[in-house]
Amino acid sequence: MAKNRSRFREIIKEYHTYLLFSLRQRGIWQSLNLWFSEFCYTIKYGRFIASRFEVFPAILKENYEQKGYLPYQPTYYKVLLKSFSTLEIDPERSTFIDIGCGKGKVLKFAGRYGFKKTIGIEIIKKLADKAEKKLIRNKRKYKTDYTLLNLDCLDYLPNEKIDVMFFYNPFKCSALNQFLKGMINSTYVPKYLIYVNPVCSDLVCSLGFEVVHTYKTGKYTEFSTFKFDDSKTTETFPFHFAYSG
Ligand SMILES: C[S@@+](CC[C@H](N)C(=O)[O-])C[C@H]1O[C@@H](n2cnc3c(N)ncnc32)[C@H](O)[C@@H]1O
Repeated sequence: MAKNRSRFREIIKEYHTYLLFSLRQRGIWQSLNLWFSEFCYTIKYGRFIASRFEVFPAILKENYEQKGYLPYQPTYYKVLLKSFSTLEIDPERSTFIDIGCGKGKVLKFAGRYGFKKTIGIEIIKKLADKAEKKLIRNKRKYKTDYTLLNLDCLDYLPNEKIDVMFFYNPFKCSALNQFLKGMINSTYVPKYLIYVNPVCSDLVCSLGFEVVHTYKTGKYTEFSTFKFDDSKTTETFPFHFAYSG
């Protein structure tokens, strides 16, 4: 009972912080507009409102200071639609990866959008298991192939061509730097990167990606789409020394 009450208090606190943050950053009208559109898309695409506020999982709390991992929160449908529309690719021939996929909202949506293959990586087993269930259903419905990996993405290197990499600010810049350097030095550098709440944009650009689109509501940057500059991979770009921050 006491445990339930403290969980409830924690959720209310999270709501309160989140609402204030949104109102300050996006403004009242933009926030209301976003929440209303999420409500409509939720009716169309599936329920996600209740899962928006997860209590900060212990494993991330522990890792937050040490490694800079951030907690779970799903991307808004409106942001997903807008970000996918910035990609100049044929989804039916493309592979999509969500780094820190949580319960799989983005992967489910990518399958519905028509991606041939979707890959999700999630460090928390409970969330990865929920995503897996969702994807099994998705596979039958939208015929998308999927892989779900319950691991720390810093231990992941792609072994196949990736066309679009997606992340919603899963960790701080230091961890992002380590992760992106690993990706860039692998054989399969993703062509596009969709970065929701792109707080470390400068770092991403310093590693050879260029911004092709940015979407803002009020003062808040919802996402940026980056494209990898191939010319830098083969000739001039010294990846190992690109960013020392
Ligand atoms: C903000 S949520 C985004 C969830 C989902 N991508 C979306 O946009 O709806 C970030 C997720 O990244 C996961 N995460 C954080 N650090 C990670 C790491 N090092 N490896 C794998 N997953 C990680 C968290 O557990 C969390 O589920």
